[in-house]
Amino acid sequence: MKYQTLQDILFRLPTETSHYVSLHSIALLQQLRLTSLIAKGVPADPVTLMGIDFPNRVGLAAGLDKDAKCIAGLDALGFGFIEVGTVTPKPQRGNPKPRMFRIPSRQAIINRMGFNNDGVEEMSKRIQRANFSGVLGVNIGKNAKTANEDTLSDYTLCMRKVYDQASYIAVNISSPNTQGLRAFQHGDELAKLLEGLRLVHRELQQTHQKHVPLLVKIAPDMDDEEIQTISRRLLEFEIDGVIVSNTTVSRSALLGEKHSAEKGGLSGDPLRNQSNHVLAMVASEVKPKLAVIGVGGIMLPEHAAQKIELGADLVQLYSGFIYSGPDLIAESSEAIRKMWV
Ligand code: FNR
Repeated sequence: MKYQTLQDILFRLPTETSHYVSLHSIALLQQLRLTSLIAKGVPADPVTLMGIDFPNRVGLAAGLDKDAKCIAGLDALGFGFIEVGTVTPKPQRGNPKPRMFRIPSRQAIINRMGFNNDGVEEMSKRIQRANFSGVLGVNIGKNAKTANEDTLSDYTLCMRKVYDQASYIAVNISSPNTQGLRAFQHGDELAKLLEGLRLVHRELQQTHQKHVPLLVKIAPDMDDEEIQTISRRLLEFEIDGVIVSNTTVSRSALLGEKHSAEKGGLSGDPLRNQSNHVLAMVASEVKPKLAVIGVGGIMLPEHAAQKIELGADLVQLYSGFIYSGPDLIAESSEAIRKMWV
């Protein structure tokens, strides 16, 4: 079946409902060994980064499979890696609905989900059951009710719980939908958080006798000085990689559109330029010491190649996957592979 036909049906449902129906359908198709009906084969383009072997450079961004319910299904679509989460220590409902808005005329999404998830205990059990052998990133966050001064303990609790199960751990300090979270991208808050994380990370490395790379996911809403400062902090605390970027709170690329006044993070086509600017600056500061994952506004294969040109080692999709479907995975991977030949 063409993805366009499926999308015509799914887009008639309320946005969040269509999201869950899609995930369940992918899981079901995988169980029936029928994912080839909706996905092309993805050509191999292996790369080793941070000690991890990736079958190709195109991954799934965090937030789509928040609870690790569909790892095998998403893997069967050909993603080179899958990032689940954001997961928090305790389960939480997130913000009241509606909290996800599609703007098809601009290939955009605004969301203010607010880390709705089943909690890290439940996620850990699901990962265990999935028995997945591909590359699995776990994106961790803090509960909305946790006081800001206890933020570090939320992150370390999640890190401890999934350390042995994750290929890498991504620390999300850039969601615009948890009050006060983005403050941890700056100044003393950032330094203290990174220092505390690295301490526990070293301890876990010793205990488990393995290094699970630690990455930080950042926002696109930073001026050049802030981008430079955070990049230097990531180097100073020997973080393994950086994911650029999360959604934006800016609406300057979406003025006048329906839903543009909705609160939350904007993703998709209108995010790309802003996200790319941050990506290029961060990459010039941190490479080759840190791995760089580029995400934000990849709607076409050439946008994926553009991120690699700007310095990304890997890319991730979210909104482009919703609007263009699974073919974007193979096409993006092919566009990137062609850059080396
Ligand atoms: C997200 N994103 C996200 N990121 C994250 O680190 N943790 C999360 O829980 C979520 N949740 C989430 C929900 C929804 C509905 C969307 C649209 C996005 C951000 C996502 O991973 C990505 O960084 C941005 O969406 C930018 O990429 P695209 O969508 O422009 O390709």
